[in-house]
Amino acid sequence: MDNRPIGVFDSGLGGLTVMKELMAQLPNENIVYFGDTARLPYGTRSKETIIKYSMQCIRFLLSKGIKAVVIACNTASSMAIQAVRETFDIPIIGVIEPGAEAAAKATRNNKVGIIGTQATVKSGAYPTALKKLNPDIQTCGVACPLFVPIVEEGWSDTEIAYLTARRYLNDLKSWEADTVILGCTHYPLLINTISKVMGPEVTLINPAADTARQVKQMLTEKDMLRENKDVGVYQYYLSDFSQSFKQIGSNFLNKNIEYAEKIDIENY
Ligand code: DGL
Repeated sequence: MDNRPIGVFDSGLGGLTVMKELMAQLPNENIVYFGDTARLPYGTRSKETIIKYSMQCIRFLLSKGIKAVVIACNTASSMAIQAVRETFDIPIIGVIEPGAEAAAKATRNNKVGIIGTQATVKSGAYPTALKKLNPDIQTCGVACPLFVPIVEEGWSDTEIAYLTARRYLNDLKSWEADTVILGCTHYPLLINTISKVMGPEVTLINPAADTARQVKQMLTEKDMLRENKDVGVYQYYLSDFSQSFKQIGSNFLNKNIEYAEKIDIENY
């Protein structure tokens, strides 16, 4: 048994889609969430910078006495997981491996599409993880940078979102991917629109759900689950407050964020 909280970080509020799954699958765990809202987006930054930011996020979470780290951000998971695993002596789970495992299980024609930020697609992290699981899997990656602002604007189910998705995903559709990984924290909120474009026969993988499953499995195997059966306590920290963070945050989390504290991430 280990009663310390789980630490979760993301470049901003999008990682709350992963937090939501953790809350659902591990309702008794305490969770500390850190959103690096001052330095968002990570998706257009260099590997070096993303590693530096990820190290600072983890050092901050460690100062809160956590027992494990969940990297909710696809960009940070794809660019920094190796470096942070080599640096910190604590279990670290990212979203890439769980997402790739779910996609490898789901595909029937071995054609998996990956959509994400420019950095995630460029990193090749999902193709590498997929090939390790099944060398016959072919992949096609498409960066969809406009999806993030569309979701943050609350336009996920609008004509604008649909037309943007059609423009980005047409090639993936013609290529006949039968499975598509939603490789960015924001994209699960576009699932209806993406499904409308890709068609009902295409399986859409939300790595958040599979990541939460893997965290639960890891904590169970290592006997690190919290002993107390009360509902977990949640703490939120951000590196900057925007006017709309409460509204955007509750959109991702599907419940209200009562209180969040601002911290200076450059001190870590
Ligand atoms: N959280 C990022 C991801 O999942 C998207 C936003 C960003 O570019 O920082 O890749």
